Order: sequence, then C-alpha cells, then structure tokens
Amino acid sequence: MTARSSLTIVLAAGEGTRMRSSLPKVLHPVAGQPLLAHVLAAAPKGTGMSLAVVIGPDHAAVADEARRIRPDALTFVQRERLGTAHAVLAAREAIARGAEDLVVAFGDTPLISAETFERLRAPLARGAALAALGFRAADPTGYGRFIVEGDQLVAIREQADASAEERKITLCNAGVMAIDGRRALAILDQIGNANSKGEYYLTDAVGIVRAQGWEAVVIETSEDEVRGVNSKAQLAEAEGVMQARLRKAAMEAGVTLIAPATVYLAADTSFGKDVTIEPFVVIGPGVSIADGAVIHSFSHIVHSSIGKNASVGPFARMRPGSTLGEGAKIGNFVETKAATLEAGAKANHLAYIGDAIVGAKSNIGAGTITCNYDGFSKHKTLIGKGAFVGTNSSLVAPVKIGNGAYIGSGSVITRDVPDDAMALERTQQTIREGGAARYREMKTGGKKSES
Ligand code: UD1
Ligand code: CA
Repeated sequence: MTARSSLTIVLAAGEGTRMRSSLPKVLHPVAGQPLLAHVLAAAPKGTGMSLAVVIGPDHAAVADEARRIRPDALTFVQRERLGTAHAVLAAREAIARGAEDLVVAFGDTPLISAETFERLRAPLARGAALAALGFRAADPTGYGRFIVEGDQLVAIREQADASAEERKITLCNAGVMAIDGRRALAILDQIGNANSKGEYYLTDAVGIVRAQGWEAVVIETSEDEVRGVNSKAQLAEAEGVMQARLRKAAMEAGVTLIAPATVYLAADTSFGKDVTIEPFVVIGPGVSIADGAVIHSFSHIVHSSIGKNASVGPFARMRPGSTLGEGAKIGNFVETKAATLEAGAKANHLAYIGDAIVGAKSNIGAGTITCNYDGFSKHKTLIGKGAFVGTNSSLVAPVKIGNGAYIGSGSVITRDVPDDAMALERTQQTIREGGAARYREMKTGGKKSES
C-alpha cells in the first residue's frame, strides 16, 4: 500500500435500462449487498483516502447507500449522461482538492478487489501519469481495446470507433483507471467528444497522456474480477463468481461445506471455528455463526447471530434479530424473528417465536406460537429460564412466563405465569363409554363401512 493520498471516484450514474427494473442498477444486490457496496468496500480507505460517487439525477437512494458503506463519501450528480469523462468531471470540486492519486472505478463492477486498486496505484508512485486495468476477454465485443507498445499503453479504442483489425485485440479495458492527481484536471479538461457516440470518453485520457510524452501503463487482471453488470443475466454471473469466492474463503477459514455449490453466503457472513453447513442453506446479510455451530439443510437465515455449538434446522427460518445462545437449538419448521433463545434453550419442531426472549435451558414444545401481533401492534413474550412450554400452546403477548414455569399442552396463555407455577388452559375432557361404537352403528345402520 502506498502512502500517497488518493481520491476514488465511482461512476454510478448509469441508467441500466437493460436491467428492466425501477431500481437504480448499482443498487441491485450480489451476495446480499448492492453492487455499489462491493466496489466501495474495495476502494482505498483510511487516512488520506477520500471517495466520491457520481450519481444520476433522482438517485438519492444511491447516495444513501454510498454513505452507509462509507460515511465520508461525497456525492455528485451528473445531470446529463454525456460520457465517462464527463461523469468524472461532475466531481471536479473533489479532484481540485488535489489528492496525489485519482482512481476511477465503475459502480457496476462489483468483483474488483482491494489489492487490484493498490496494484493500479503503484505505477503512479513511480512517476507514471496513468495506469489502466486490462483483462483478456473471452469475447471482447463491446469493450474498449488496449493498443499497446511494449509495456506502454498507447490508446484505448472504443468498440464503435475501432477498425476491423483493432477489434481483434482481446486485451480490453476494465474501466478502472488511476491518474496522477496533480495532472488529472489538465488531462480530463482536454477530452473532447469527437467520436461516433458524441460522448466524452474517459479512455481518451490515454492519448492525451502520451501526447505529453508521459507514461501510461497497463495492469492486467482476470476477466472474473472485472465483470460488469448490465443485465439480469450478468447480475447472476457476478453472483456466481462472488459465491464461489465466498465459499472458498469460508472453507479456507475452516468452515465445513458439504456441498459448497448449494450453499449461498453473504459478503458479510462471519464464521467461528469448526462450523458445519449442510447442503442447501441460504444465508443472507448480517449473519454471524460461532464456533462449532451446525446449520442443517434447507435453512434460511438473515440478520441473525448463532452462538457456539448451536444447531439450526433442518428447515429452520431465522428472520432479522434472531439470536441463539450457546448450545441453543431450533429444529425443523421453526421460525424466529426478533427473538433470543438463551444458552441451551430448545425449540425442536414446528414453532413461531417472534418478539420474544426464551430463557436459558427452556424447552418450547412443538406447535408453540408466540402471538406477537394483535392486528395493530407487536408485543413481547418473555419466557424465564428452565421453563417448559407444552406442545401446541399459544402465548398471547404481551405475556411473561416465569423461571421454571410449566405450561400444559394446548394452553392459550393470556396472563403472566409466575416462577415455578403450572398454567393449564383447557376445557375438561369428556369420556362417553361405548360412544364410538354407537356412533359407527348410527352412521352405517349395522353394515360394514366402505373403506
Ligand atoms: C466502458 C469503457 C470501455 C470499457 C467498459 C468496461 C469508456 C468510454 N468506455 O464502456 O472502454 O471496456 O466500460 O466495462 O469509458 N457512466 C456515467 N455517466 C456517463 C456514462 C457512464 O456515470 O455519462 C458510468 C456508468 O454508470 C457505468 C460506467 O460509467 O458505471 C461505464 O459506462 P458504460 O456506458 O457502461 O460504458 P461502456 O460502454 O460499458
Ligand atoms: Ca458497461
């Protein structure tokens, strides 16, 4: 990492019409985070590293997302979409502050890594005026082509302006570029729009740099790292690359993935040691899984925290705000939301636990429902430690169940239950001796039943 100061400008004013969506393109998610968030997370950060995002008009949500990831982000609006150089100059005020390196990246290229940003800045520290990120494209159609002489970049030719010969070049422009900060405005201000699209191309910076006799270099990377997203199909491709990376990183960190290709992770999933994830598990954003926890098949988890040696699923759903303490367990068809199960608490089957605290070592029987919503607002259910909630109980919130309390099966609990008390809410069972036989007789008139 160079000690030079830098300004990263992320271009995110794209309309993304091929996405066929009302959501701005850069807000579409990959691995649970908007495209833009991935780029911003990789951009140089720390002391002396500033960031600007260029957004389209009416894209306040994009500005909000930028500040969520980087509270220091400056945002600039590009009112008319006149090309990538025009977009960079929307942030003129930020460039004029004079960071030593200016880095330009695209908001729709989510797979870029922090190391690549550093590799790109390195030549500037050695005196180059410009470094551009290139890759060997399997199919170069649509990309700007790099015209090189030795290790020097001579020009970048956009597809529309390239000759048949130039179109055969497979070394393509990824779109990420670093320009010496002190020379940047002088270079950018010379870019014109005399090309087939009538746009101000950032790529023309290369020709301008070379005309001054300054150095422009190519830094190469893999195609996977610079995949851009212009369509839903490309969004899915980027997701695929990102998931492959996340699974590999998880396994390198010691997570056991039995069938990695069937497990979906989020960019921010955190793991302890000796975690096992069975096939077909979906983990959304905001999930942490502590040492020794096991996530069984077909579970779906978002914004939740899973404690040491806890067990989830199969077929469990943890909605936002769910916390499992050490050794806690939720089994098949259990749904949790804004709920804490303290250490050793269990809900082994068929339950809904929402807006609730279940004390340590309490047991929640099958079919237990916390009735947290009265049609108007949400209420809490507080269950103490070592309590036993019998099967098929409805706990009508707000309600408190004391430590060591016992709820008989099938109860509808509407009043607080003190510590160590037993609560039963049932009608008396009636027995009519011979009643079943008489009933059959009445229905069949003495004949054998049909089935
Ligand atoms: C651009 C490059 C091309 C490169 C390709 C890599 C130029 C002129 N061309 O082409 O060499 O191979 O990316 O994917 O730079 N944007 C704005 N405002 C504008 C125009 C674009 O903010 O006025 C943003 C877009 O939101 C997008 C990025 O800049 O994030 C790239 O623009 P796009 O139109 O997709 O450029 P390409 O034609 O793909
Ligand atoms: Ca593009």
